[in-house]
Amino acid sequence: MGKIIIDCDPGIDDSLALMLALSSPELEIAGITTVSGNVPADMGTGNARKVLRQMGRLDIPVYTGESVPLKCSYTDAMDTHGRDGLGESFLPEVQGEFPEGSALEFLEKTLEKEKISIIALGPMTNLAKLFLKRPELIGQVEELVSMGGNFRSHGNCSPVAEYNYWCDPDAAAVCYELFGEAGKKIEMIGLDVTRKIVLTPNILEYICRLDPENGDFIRKITGFYMDFHWEYEKIIGCVINDPLAVAYFIDRSMCRGFDSYTAVAADGICRGQTVVDSMDFWKKKPNSHILTETDSGKFMRFFLSRVLKKEDGSRWREEELSLLESL
Ligand code: RIB
Ligand code: CA
Repeated sequence: MGKIIIDCDPGIDDSLALMLALSSPELEIAGITTVSGNVPADMGTGNARKVLRQMGRLDIPVYTGESVPLKCSYTDAMDTHGRDGLGESFLPEVQGEFPEGSALEFLEKTLEKEKISIIALGPMTNLAKLFLKRPELIGQVEELVSMGGNFRSHGNCSPVAEYNYWCDPDAAAVCYELFGEAGKKIEMIGLDVTRKIVLTPNILEYICRLDPENGDFIRKITGFYMDFHWEYEKIIGCVINDPLAVAYFIDRSMCRGFDSYTAVAADGICRGQTVVDSMDFWKKKPNSHILTETDSGKFMRFFLSRVLKKEDGSRWREEELSLLESL
């Protein structure tokens, strides 16, 4: 499956995505880069390290990325993720010596050296800045899977825009344009599929029964998120967007979609909207693969069977998780 870099803004669902990636033997995580999104990049770095500590993987380096979008002023999402970015769990900071260098330096150095895939779970500021400076490095990106955007699903931070692409619309627009010019397609895991992935209180209870240790961590960081979803979307549970991007990277049968040319509106009332030319009006080569269908039950079995461990440290097999169907 291969070597990856995860670019993220942890963030509660980013943290669940990191837990899934860290529990997946198919992935070799070369490093994690953070970007200002849900929380400022430096807070995201501290939060990524809290997840790495939970999963016993502090050997993986984390590099802090861009603190503000390319052009827009920065708007965080702490109303959704809490003042600490992890649901106001206020987990202790990870102490220690960490590798020097910025996210852009790490991304540039790594791509100069080898082909690697990127799973992007936040605003695309780091990627846009790098590829504007070094467009030839796009050829080194095996695959870019981006959680962001929306095709027919309504927005989550404006009537038409998803947060990652709304937070830095210029970065998203640049990435889609440059990838198109390089003859590559971005795999867009947008709200059309991620809205179907809801962590409910019953599933959370099941998680805690199966694995009290990781379950307690997940419960600590998702409570605030559940309250937010009830208050603003009258959902019992919380939509966990980012882990689906990791699951799809590992198993392409997790989602289905179509190729299309996509542009991102950079400003005005449609700021951040992904304009997906599904009817090929513009006759432009596809620069994206838009995912529109997924199976939430399949995802949940996948997620639980990897992230949760039994007392003896072994994983739960998917066939042992039959109770999920009734939750
Ligand atoms: O719109 C949802 C996306 O924005 C998720 O990646 C969430 O973590 C935030 O970054
Ligand atoms: Ca995110």
